[in-house]
This record gives sequence, C-alpha cells and structure tokens, in this order.
Amino acid sequence: MNNFVFYSPTEFVFGKDTETQVGAMARKYGARKVMIVYGGGSVVRSGLLDRVKASLQEAGIAFCELGGVQPNPIDLKVYEGIELCRKEEADLLLAVGGGSTIDTAKAIACGALYEGDFWDFFIGKAVIEKALKVAVVLTIPAAGSEGSGNSVITKTETLQKLGMGSNKLRPLFSILNPQLTCTLPPYQTASGVADMMAHIMERYFTNTREVEISDRLCEGVLKAIIEEAPKVIKDPNDYEARANIMWSGMVAHNGTCGVGREEDWSSHALEHEISAIYNVTHGAGLAVVFPAWLTWMATHNVDKLVQYAVRVWDVPVPIGKLLSDEEKVDVATEGIRRLKAFFTSLGLPVSFAELHIEHPDIPRMIESLRRNKGNLLGCYVKLTMEDCADIYRLAL
Ligand code: NZQ
Ligand code: ZN
Repeated sequence: MNNFVFYSPTEFVFGKDTETQVGAMARKYGARKVMIVYGGGSVVRSGLLDRVKASLQEAGIAFCELGGVQPNPIDLKVYEGIELCRKEEADLLLAVGGGSTIDTAKAIACGALYEGDFWDFFIGKAVIEKALKVAVVLTIPAAGSEGSGNSVITKTETLQKLGMGSNKLRPLFSILNPQLTCTLPPYQTASGVADMMAHIMERYFTNTREVEISDRLCEGVLKAIIEEAPKVIKDPNDYEARANIMWSGMVAHNGTCGVGREEDWSSHALEHEISAIYNVTHGAGLAVVFPAWLTWMATHNVDKLVQYAVRVWDVPVPIGKLLSDEEKVDVATEGIRRLKAFFTSLGLPVSFAELHIEHPDIPRMIESLRRNKGNLLGCYVKLTMEDCADIYRLAL
C-alpha cells in the first residue's frame, strides 16, 4: 500500500426530510448570504426549491439564485454565476441538484475569488488558493460530487470537457435525502449507477499491490450496488434501495475506495470526449466505454480482471487450480459479459450504436484526447492514442 493523506471534511446529513435542515446548517457554518444554484427545473417541479428557500428564510439567511444549469455543464453558466455571486456578495454556494449543478457551484466558488479566468484552474494554468464555501442538497446519486473536491466543466468554444480537483472545493455539508431521488427518470437512475460503479472500478484496477482493505471495500460496494440497483429500477419508490444507492454514490467517489493505490481514470477520459462532442449522459457513456476498456485489458493485463470477475461477478473457478493464461482471459471475459448484461438489464446502452451514435468520429475524439491528456493515458496499462482508438472501436 502506498503512503496517503485522506481528507474528507464534509458533514453529511442523510435521511428522510433532511432538506428542511438546510437553513440551520447554513447558519451553523456562518453563512451570511447564500447563492442557490440549480438545474433545468426538476427542483422547481418537485417543490424542493421552495422547501429549501423556506428553510433558509426560517433561519434568517438571505439568498439569491442561479437556475438553468444544464447536464454536462458549460463555462457560460459559470461566468454568469461568478458575476452574480460578486454582485450579490454571496459567501456560500448552495447546489440543489446533481453533479452538473454541484460542479458549476464549485467552479463559481473558486472563480469568484480569482482575478483571472476560472478556466485557468481546469487547464492547469493556476492552482486554487481560495474558494467560497460550497454546500449541497443532492437530488441524484451519480457523480459523487457531493463528497468530492472535483468539478467537471465543458468549454463551449472548444468543446473541451475537463475536470479538476482541490480539497478547497469539498462541500462543507451535503444533505442527502433518498426520497428526493424517487422522481428520477429510470435512464438517469441507471446512468447514475453506471457512473458510481465506474468510480469504484477506476480505482480498483491498479497495479499497486497489497491493497486488500480497499479492494474488499470496492468489491463490497460494487456487490451492494449490483443487488440494490435492480430494485430501484423495478420500484422507483423503494426507499431502502434508494437509500443504499444514494450512499453508494458517495462512498464510490469521496476517495475512500482509492486510498494508498495508483488509480486509472482512462475510461473517464475516454468518456468525457464522447459527452463533450455528442452531449450524452456521462454514466451512459461509461456503460459503453468501461466494458470496452476491460475487453482490451483482458489481453494486456488480465490478473486483476480475474479477481474482479471471481469476487464481484461470482464467475466460478476451480478452487486451488492455477489458471493458464488462456483460462484467465476466459474468466475475465465472462466477468465482462456479466457486467454488460447487468447494464443492459438496467436499460443502459453498451455500445456506440445503442447510444445512437452509429458512426462516432474516432479521429476527432482521439485528437481532442491528445490535446487534453497528452500522448499516454491511464495507469493500469499506459494507453497510447492508438490503443485508445482500439478501445473506441471495441465499443462500436
Ligand atoms: O436539470 P434538472 O432539471 O434538475 O434535471 C436533471 C438533469 O436533467 C435530472 N435530475 C436530477 N435530479 C433529479 C432529476 N430529475 C428528476 N428528479 C430528480 N430528483 O437529471 C439530469 C442529470 O443531472 P446531472 O446533474 O447532469 O447528473 P449527474 O449527477 O449525473 O452529473 C453529471 C455530471 O457530473 C460530471 C459528469 O461528467 C457530468 O458532467 N462528473 C462529475 C464528477 C465530480 N464532480 O466529481 C465526477 C464524475 O465522474 C463526472 O465526470
Ligand atoms: Zn463519473
């Protein structure tokens, strides 16, 4: 296990009706003026936004609001938010929504206190030294942004979708009420499940040895998701299953599953090119990319895939038998088949064609990937751009 520092300062308030505590929480953390950030209207329709405002009013906290954040959030909304935030002198960004809303709030939080262009943080031109406080009322378990210090934004002009992270952007508090997720359309629920599984697998597939504790944690959370996800698809109002899925999304991405090990993240980089160009739902894009990445890995670095297939997908292997290289590939392939079948059972696409992208522009995605990430990608096996093109082709 490698040395590590694990810092996760967010206070989580989890359970039924917990959004009514948002005013008291904001007051507890000394907020004077809150800027509420939300998306395309789901929180208006559900009445959540009104409940959040009522709670802030009750706590005597002033607020302003910025709505209209779109999925795969863009820089233009961040600039608009920075301007509003400065004008209103807000000191707490309260995201009410999912990853797109939270990530926009985070970008505003650091951009508002920075003299230059906030995009500098995303292209590595500047490091975040200070940021306004961020808090969350979560409505979709998926991106894990409620427990992470990361933000992912797309630059409209260049269609670059880039992520960046800083502990200064970790939410002060996050309110997680599983009841709020019952209104999610099945496709969004399923995409969220694929995303959180991907967050675990990006960490799981590593060459760092002797990481049994985090391996077992990853496997356990994956198995729990595999058990709970079909329940929420079958019955969107199953509170207990919703609750388990909601907490899984947090555990998957706040860093716990990746401590002490090298992480991979190439599937995410490959997917970000797809959602940047074709504006697909991030989790659905991952359901297409991850099985293709695993298929490529089965013939390039198979050992961890065998462990994954056996421990997560219960692929049978004879006890005590040393597997030949060929048998290892067979076991890994069966694990990948089970992952794909699982995604399919949730209603997710597992190929570009099923994502309704019949002829993806692979050269364009590779060019953009090279510009954003350089010539080599990932860690489990360092991928050249030609390898990346092969993986895209495996996903056709
Ligand atoms: O915009 P509204 O009207 O609110 O509708 C949203 C949106 O259309 C809807 N929705 C959310 N909660 C709902 C609901 N509809 C009904 N009932 C509810 N309770 O769902 C749609 C998707 O929302 P979005 O916020 O985009 O979802 P998600 O949480 O999946 O976020 C995706 C974004 O996060 C990024 C992705 O790349 C993508 O841009 N990621 C962020 C990460 C991070 N910050 O750490 C890591 C991830 O790997 C990911 O890259
Ligand atoms: Zn993700």
